[in-house]
This record gives sequence, structure tokens and C-alpha cells, in this order.
Amino acid sequence: MRLGTPLSDSAVRVMLLGAGELGKEVAIELQRLGVEVIAVDRYPNAPAMQVAHRSHVIPMTDPHVLAGVIAAEMPHIIVPEIEAIATEVLAEIEAAGHAVVIPTARATQLTMNREGIRRLAAEELDLPTSPYAFASSADDLAEAAEQIGLPVFVKPVMSSSGKGQSFVESLDQVADAWAYAQSGGRVETATVIIEGRIDFDFEITLLTVRSMRDGAVRTDFCAPIGHRQVKGDYVESWQPQAMSPAALASAQDIAGKVTDSLGGLGVFGVELFVKGDQVWFSEVSPRPHDTGLVTLATQTMSEFALHVRAILGLPVDVSQRETGASAVIYGGMDAVGIAFDGVAEALSVPTADLRLFGKPESYERRRMGVATARGATTDQARERARLAASKVRPVAV
Ligand SMILES: Nc1ncnc2c1ncn2[C@@H]1O[C@H](COP(=O)(O)OP(=O)(O)OP(=O)(O)O)[C@@H](O)[C@H]1O
Ligand SMILES: [Mg+2]
Repeated sequence: MRLGTPLSDSAVRVMLLGAGELGKEVAIELQRLGVEVIAVDRYPNAPAMQVAHRSHVIPMTDPHVLAGVIAAEMPHIIVPEIEAIATEVLAEIEAAGHAVVIPTARATQLTMNREGIRRLAAEELDLPTSPYAFASSADDLAEAAEQIGLPVFVKPVMSSSGKGQSFVESLDQVADAWAYAQSGGRVETATVIIEGRIDFDFEITLLTVRSMRDGAVRTDFCAPIGHRQVKGDYVESWQPQAMSPAALASAQDIAGKVTDSLGGLGVFGVELFVKGDQVWFSEVSPRPHDTGLVTLATQTMSEFALHVRAILGLPVDVSQRETGASAVIYGGMDAVGIAFDGVAEALSVPTADLRLFGKPESYERRRMGVATARGATTDQARERARLAASKVRPVAV
């Protein structure tokens, strides 16, 4: 694809479906290459809209509205940033050759549903996963939980960021888990996945990049990113996560197989559980991953720069330069147009840097920013990132 001049006949137009903090970094990288950026989300002034050429506020799950915006803008490339999109529209656009969908329409469809990606990984690709079953009623759920063996995780098949998820340790918690899953799912599909718990030592995101070089697609792996999750939401991440050579080889093998099967170009966040030399596939995002915000501080090219290079058909460099960590800054309150105190103190922590996402509205547990830091060790980097994040104090005005 030949790069051109934005807002002219030669422009390469990229439409971001989802305009959050990850999309904002992608938009900035696109802007650096003179790409015309159109940001789309369900609410006005979303982070990526603030750095795009144009934006649209639409319900992205409505196929007619989504198709209308795409037809009006005629993007060359469509980059989904979130899962809650009418992906059947993307399949039609791709089939008609009207735009390239990143990484592919099929990948966006498979990964937006836990059943699709789990069956692909475990049943077609024969990759190790937690034991699992699907259920469409509270009774089926109880039966599956007993069969798999407690404790289990219960998750709506259509949900992300821990929404509607329960950890069930005894059968009398099943009814609550069922009810909670019904309230937390993204769409009115009653299905849940029940997963046996993997007793892992640590979990990683293996950022895997499919890009073009010398006319062929190649796969590169970033250094593994370790992370800590609370209630299905990441609170800190670090790179590299130390692991045995056997576990790393196995992780790359699994990530290679999953991403080969999904196809297309771009960054994938492959989530894996690790215990000793053993590795299990958990799930995959066909796009940059939130835990990969750490790469802003650690890699020659951040995961956002990698994504942009890859989707434009350009070569990438996945090398890591520094040991580093990221720590999330939460809103801590429900308010509109909040301010941030303590920024100077945060940036006085050695090597610390900040991203404040510019989200118009804060919620108690909404991610409003992230602190990054480097260090001689991941422990030192984590300590610095956490300290910097803790210095930033959201305030209502
Ligand atoms: N089978 C399992 N065994 C052990 N831990 C699990 C299992 N399933 C989920 N978890 C824990 O819960 C976290 C969230 O699960 P998962 O990634 O499936 O949900 P999610 O809603 O997609 O979260 P996110 O959108 O933040 O990635 C995992 O990162 C892991 O810490
Ligand atoms: Mg996850």
C-alpha cells in the first residue's frame, strides 16, 4: 500500500472501530505516517477521537448504522479495537473487497465469542487449554461444574474485561454465578463457558506480530509480558517475564499456531498460563493488548507502532530495549471532566512516564491512565511504576 497525504486523493484512510486508549496510541502512530484517521465509538470525545482527523459516534453493534458509516467514509483499512462490533458487517465488506479488515473478519468473529476461539484452539488446533464446557441454563451449569471439578471460572461467552465472570468454589454458588453472567454478558446470549482452574505460576501476554517482509508474511514474537489481574482487569504488567526456555518455546509454538490460523496482518495478544515448563492457551486478542501498554517504555517499537507498521504492510522490529513495567491509574470516582493532581511528583520517580487518556467521564474502576517505568530488574521497574501511578490523584472539579 502506497502512503499518501491525508485529506487528499492520495490519502490512505484507516477507520478505528473503538476509540479508547489503545486506539489513541494506534491513531498517533498512524498520524506519524500521514495516514488519514477516522475514529468511531459509542460516545463523544473518546480518546482516539481527540487525535483523529474525523470521528463518528454510533452504536457499533447496529449493523445498519455501522455499514452506513463505512460506506460514507470508504476506509481502505478497518481496525477493530474492541469486540462489541457488528462483525457480520465486516465480513460483508471484506468479502466484497471494499476494505481490508484487521486482521481478518473471521478473526474478529471468532475472538468476540469465547466459544468460537476455544473450540478453534482446543478442538481444531489441539492446543492445551483449561478443561471446559458450555451451558445455557443454571442446571447445565451445575452439572458441568461438577463434571469438570470445582473450583471453576464461569464467564459469559460474549463479554470482556471480567464482566459477568464468577469464580465458583462450591455448588451453592452456581445460581448466583448464572444470574451474574446473565447481567454481565454483552448481548442477550445466555451461554456461558465453565473453565476448570489452571493452577499457574504466572500468566503472560505473548505479543505476536504478523507482518510482511520481502513479499511474504512472517511471524515475530515480542518478549513475554507478565501481568497481574484483579477481577478480570489488569492492574500491572512487566516485560520481560522470566520463564524457562522450554516454556518460552512452547508459548511461541502455541501463539504461532493460533495466529497462523486466524491469519491477516497485525499484532495479536496471546494470553497464556505458565507452570514450570507447561503452558496453556487462555485467549487471544486480534489487536494490541492492554497489558502491552508496557511496551511504550520497553521496546524499540511499541505494540501500537508494530500494529500500524504491520497493517500497512511494512516491516517491523520487535526488539526489546529496556526492562520495564506499567501500572494502571483508576478514576477512583464517578465524575465528568476530572483533573489530575500529583503529576509532577509521579514524573519525579526515576524513569517514570505517564499516559493520561483524556476520557471525558471517570468511573470508580475505569482505567483513566497508566504509569510506566524502567529498571535494572522487573521488580525495580514494577516498584517505580506502582509508585508513579500512586502519586497521580484524580480530583473532581
Ligand atoms: N481457567 C482459568 N484458570 C485460572 N485463571 C483463570 C482462568 N480463567 C480466567 N482466569 C483468570 O481471570 C483473568 C481473566 O480471564 P479472561 O482473560 O478469560 O477474561 P477477560 O474478561 O477476557 O479479561 P480481559 O478482557 O481483561 O482479558 C485471567 O487473566 C486469569 O487471571
Ligand atoms: Mg483476558
